[in-house]
Amino acid sequence: MRISIFGLGYVGCVTAACLARDGHDVVGVDVNPVKVAGIAAGKSPIIERGLEDLLKTVVRQGKLRATIDARDAVLDSDISLICVGTPSNPNGSLNTRYVESVCKEIGLAIPKNPGGALSYEGLLELALDSYYDRNTHLSRPRPNRRRAA
Ligand SMILES: NC(=O)c1ccc[n+]([C@@H]2O[C@H](COP(=O)([O-])OP(=O)(O)OC[C@H]3O[C@@H](n4cnc5c(N)ncnc54)[C@H](O)[C@@H]3O)[C@@H](O)[C@H]2O)c1
Repeated sequence: MRISIFGLGYVGCVTAACLARDGHDVVGVDVNPVKVAGIAAGKSPIIERGLEDLLKTVVRQGKLRATIDARDAVLDSDISLICVGTPSNPNGSLNTRYVESVCKEIGLAIPKNPGGALSYEGLLELALDSYYDRNTHLSRPRPNRRRAA
């Protein structure tokens, strides 16, 4: 399967390397060009035993590449995984700013896919449904669409 992974931090980088090792064609996306350049060169942005060797292997095999271009990644994948940070707000609630930003980028790219018709708002709802279904102890805020639009 062709998979794009948004956010190449602790979760996204390990997920990208492991899915590529398992035979998927993975493209990682991050807003940090230094991180993207490092991963594209097979360098790990985090200290995790075995990760750098695995990154070097899957990059060399052409199973993993990295980019800052969200549209390119969406158009080159069948599924996108969102692995950006979800920090806490000062009052302890969930800050979905980065998730909203990625949903917007993916939503803008999807209509260019043949048959793709998911709007940004629909995508964001799906992403937040998935998150809150798995984190039932958190109360769900109303998304701030004006900020992300
Ligand atoms: N780290 C853990 O041990 C852990 C464990 C369980 C769950 N999680 C959850 O996994 C998610 C990711 O956590 P993490 O620790 O990997 O975060 P992280 O801060 O290490 O990485 C997030 C990455 O997302 C990138 N990013 C931000 N905006 C982006 C955008 N618009 N497009 C592409 N990339 C963007 C950042 O540059 C950064 O590299 C969070 O929701 C976190 O709560 C993390």
